[in-house]
Amino acid sequence: MTTNRTFTMIKPDAVEKGHIGAILEKINSAGFKIVAMKFTQLSKRDAEKFYEIHAERPFFADLVQFMTRGPIVAAVLEKENAVEDFRALIGATNPAEAAEGTIRKMFATDISENAVHGSDSDENAAIEGAFHFSGREMY
Ligand code: TYD
Repeated sequence: MTTNRTFTMIKPDAVEKGHIGAILEKINSAGFKIVAMKFTQLSKRDAEKFYEIHAERPFFADLVQFMTRGPIVAAVLEKENAVEDFRALIGATNPAEAAEGTIRKMFATDISENAVHGSDSDENAAIEGAFHFSGREMY
């Protein structure tokens, strides 16, 4: 992984509502290139590991339950300044506070079911990408 990459998931709420195509369109239109992608479902163990930094937070059990309840789309995206630009594209964690036109403003349900994930640092982008994809699955 280079520092021009970030990792995203289209979360179960957005998949259930049929927003995969619209979200990928927003991602492509914003100049991100998809370098890895899969349609998959997280196990409880996967979700607990992925969100382990939040293990002590009160919302952790609900977060794991939500993230495992249906399929997701996982992808690695490439663009200059990918991590920061993608966080701007998805908007604030709480869609009520997200800017107009952001993916969470358009597609999220609430703070816990907020449609998409975006890595918060280059280091985490590399860790999260490697969590879902082998080297030969990333182009
Ligand atoms: P966090 O890393 O703070 O947000 P972001 O996804 O914007 O980087 O939190 C991870 C996920 O945890 C968040 O997308 C949704 C869930 N969450 C809640 O369910 N309730 C909360 O109060 C917070 C802060 C997060």
